[in-house]
Amino acid sequence: MNRRTAAAIAACLVAAASMTLAGCSSGAVPDGPDIKISGAFMPQPVGDMASGFLTVTNSGGEGDKLTSVTSEIADEVTIHETKGQKMQHVTAFDVPANGELNLERGASHMMFMGLKRQLKAGDNVSVELHFEKSGQVEVELPVKEATYNPKHH
Ligand code: CU
Repeated sequence: MNRRTAAAIAACLVAAASMTLAGCSSGAVPDGPDIKISGAFMPQPVGDMASGFLTVTNSGGEGDKLTSVTSEIADEVTIHETKGQKMQHVTAFDVPANGELNLERGASHMMFMGLKRQLKAGDNVSVELHFEKSGQVEVELPVKEATYNPKHH
Protein backbone atom coordinates (compact mmCIF):
# COMPACT_ATOMS: atom_id res chain seq x y z
CA MET A 1 0.00 0.00 0.00
CA ASN A 2 1.47 3.37 -0.96
CA ARG A 3 1.14 6.57 1.06
CA ARG A 4 -1.56 8.05 -1.15
CA THR A 5 -3.87 5.05 -0.81
CA ALA A 6 -3.32 5.00 2.91
CA ALA A 7 -4.20 8.70 3.12
CA ALA A 8 -7.33 8.19 1.03
CA ILE A 9 -8.48 5.34 3.23
CA ALA A 10 -7.82 7.39 6.34
CA ALA A 11 -9.84 10.30 4.94
CA CYS A 12 -12.62 7.92 4.07
CA LEU A 13 -12.74 6.50 7.57
CA VAL A 14 -12.90 10.01 9.02
CA ALA A 15 -15.77 10.90 6.68
CA ALA A 16 -17.64 7.71 7.55
CA ALA A 17 -17.13 8.29 11.26
CA SER A 18 -18.52 11.80 11.04
CA MET A 19 -21.58 10.49 9.15
CA THR A 20 -21.34 12.93 6.27
CA LEU A 21 -23.89 12.49 3.51
CA ALA A 22 -21.34 11.94 0.78
CA GLY A 23 -20.36 8.30 0.53
CA CYS A 24 -16.77 7.17 0.15
CA SER A 25 -17.23 4.46 -2.43
CA SER A 26 -20.43 4.61 -4.50
CA GLY A 27 -22.04 7.49 -6.38
CA ALA A 28 -21.71 9.93 -3.49
CA VAL A 29 -25.13 11.45 -4.06
CA PRO A 30 -26.74 13.38 -1.24
CA ASP A 31 -29.53 11.68 0.65
CA GLY A 32 -32.57 12.89 -1.31
CA PRO A 33 -36.18 11.77 -1.20
CA ASP A 34 -36.81 8.05 -1.77
CA ILE A 35 -40.36 7.66 -3.07
CA LYS A 36 -42.48 4.50 -3.19
CA ILE A 37 -46.13 4.18 -4.12
CA SER A 38 -48.49 1.64 -2.59
CA GLY A 39 -52.18 0.86 -2.25
CA ALA A 40 -53.20 2.68 -5.43
CA PHE A 41 -56.76 2.27 -6.67
CA MET A 42 -59.63 3.97 -8.45
CA PRO A 43 -63.21 3.24 -7.44
CA GLN A 44 -65.29 2.34 -10.50
CA PRO A 45 -66.43 5.72 -11.79
CA VAL A 46 -69.98 6.83 -12.42
CA GLY A 47 -70.15 9.15 -15.41
CA ASP A 48 -67.03 10.81 -16.79
CA MET A 49 -65.35 11.70 -13.50
CA ALA A 50 -63.30 9.50 -11.22
CA SER A 51 -61.26 9.77 -8.07
CA GLY A 52 -57.99 8.03 -7.30
CA PHE A 53 -56.22 7.09 -4.09
CA LEU A 54 -52.76 5.91 -3.07
CA THR A 55 -50.03 6.21 -0.48
CA VAL A 56 -46.67 7.82 -1.19
CA THR A 57 -43.96 6.69 1.21
CA ASN A 58 -40.76 8.70 1.43
CA SER A 59 -37.96 6.80 3.16
CA GLY A 60 -35.40 9.46 2.25
CA GLY A 61 -34.07 12.19 4.47
CA GLU A 62 -35.43 15.00 2.32
CA GLY A 63 -39.04 16.02 1.76
CA ASP A 64 -40.65 16.14 -1.66
CA LYS A 65 -43.86 17.48 -3.18
CA LEU A 66 -46.45 15.89 -5.43
CA THR A 67 -47.01 18.75 -7.84
CA SER A 68 -49.24 17.24 -10.52
CA VAL A 69 -50.78 14.10 -11.94
CA THR A 70 -51.36 13.21 -15.57
CA SER A 71 -53.03 10.29 -17.32
CA GLU A 72 -54.01 9.43 -20.87
CA ILE A 73 -57.38 8.30 -19.52
CA ALA A 74 -58.61 11.78 -18.63
CA ASP A 75 -58.63 15.27 -20.14
CA GLU A 76 -57.52 16.67 -16.83
CA VAL A 77 -56.29 15.35 -13.49
CA THR A 78 -56.23 17.60 -10.45
CA ILE A 79 -55.30 17.07 -6.83
CA HIS A 80 -57.81 17.93 -4.14
CA GLU A 81 -58.03 18.02 -0.40
CA THR A 82 -61.30 17.77 1.47
CA LYS A 83 -62.07 20.40 4.06
CA GLY A 84 -65.26 19.56 5.90
CA GLN A 85 -67.64 18.52 3.11
CA LYS A 86 -65.92 20.62 0.44
CA MET A 87 -63.24 19.65 -2.02
CA GLN A 88 -60.53 22.16 -2.64
CA HIS A 89 -58.03 22.22 -5.48
CA VAL A 90 -54.44 22.34 -4.22
CA THR A 91 -51.28 23.07 -6.18
CA ALA A 92 -49.12 20.49 -4.36
CA PHE A 93 -49.10 17.93 -1.59
CA ASP A 94 -46.14 17.61 0.77
CA VAL A 95 -44.41 14.27 1.07
CA PRO A 96 -42.42 14.71 4.28
CA ALA A 97 -38.95 13.24 4.80
CA ASN A 98 -39.26 9.79 6.39
CA GLY A 99 -43.01 10.14 6.16
CA GLU A 100 -45.94 9.56 3.88
CA LEU A 101 -48.69 11.23 1.94
CA ASN A 102 -52.03 9.46 2.12
CA LEU A 103 -54.61 10.02 -0.55
CA GLU A 104 -57.64 8.26 0.88
CA ARG A 105 -61.40 8.32 0.90
CA GLY A 106 -62.89 11.33 2.62
CA ALA A 107 -59.57 13.16 2.48
CA SER A 108 -57.01 14.12 -0.14
CA HIS A 109 -57.44 12.54 -3.56
CA MET A 110 -56.75 12.72 -7.26
CA MET A 111 -59.62 13.77 -9.46
CA PHE A 112 -59.90 12.62 -13.07
CA MET A 113 -62.10 14.76 -15.28
CA GLY A 114 -63.30 14.02 -18.78
CA LEU A 115 -62.67 10.26 -18.83
CA LYS A 116 -61.95 9.07 -22.34
CA ARG A 117 -63.42 5.60 -21.91
CA GLN A 118 -65.73 3.67 -19.66
CA LEU A 119 -63.87 2.01 -16.79
CA LYS A 120 -65.00 -1.10 -14.97
CA ALA A 121 -63.70 -2.97 -11.93
CA GLY A 122 -60.78 -5.11 -13.11
CA ASP A 123 -59.41 -2.47 -15.50
CA ASN A 124 -56.09 -0.75 -14.96
CA VAL A 125 -55.33 2.91 -15.47
CA SER A 126 -51.80 4.23 -15.86
CA VAL A 127 -51.05 7.47 -14.16
CA GLU A 128 -47.92 9.60 -13.96
CA LEU A 129 -47.20 11.31 -10.69
CA HIS A 130 -44.93 14.34 -10.93
CA PHE A 131 -42.74 15.11 -7.95
CA GLU A 132 -40.76 18.29 -7.46
CA LYS A 133 -37.51 16.43 -6.74
CA SER A 134 -38.09 12.80 -7.68
CA GLY A 135 -39.48 13.64 -11.11
CA GLN A 136 -42.03 11.44 -12.83
CA VAL A 137 -43.20 8.20 -11.25
CA GLU A 138 -45.55 5.90 -13.18
CA VAL A 139 -48.16 3.96 -11.30
CA GLU A 140 -50.98 1.59 -12.29
CA LEU A 141 -54.31 2.17 -10.62
CA PRO A 142 -56.48 -0.94 -10.54
CA VAL A 143 -60.15 -0.07 -10.89
CA LYS A 144 -62.09 -1.49 -7.93
CA GLU A 145 -65.78 -1.71 -7.12
CA ALA A 146 -67.36 1.67 -6.37
CA THR A 147 -67.47 1.14 -2.60
CA TYR A 148 -63.94 -0.25 -2.17
CA ASN A 149 -62.21 1.34 0.83
CA PRO A 150 -59.08 -0.30 2.22
CA LYS A 151 -57.64 0.70 5.55
CA HIS A 152 -53.98 1.67 5.43
CA HIS A 153 -53.12 1.16 9.06
CU1 CU B 1 -62.12 16.20 -5.77
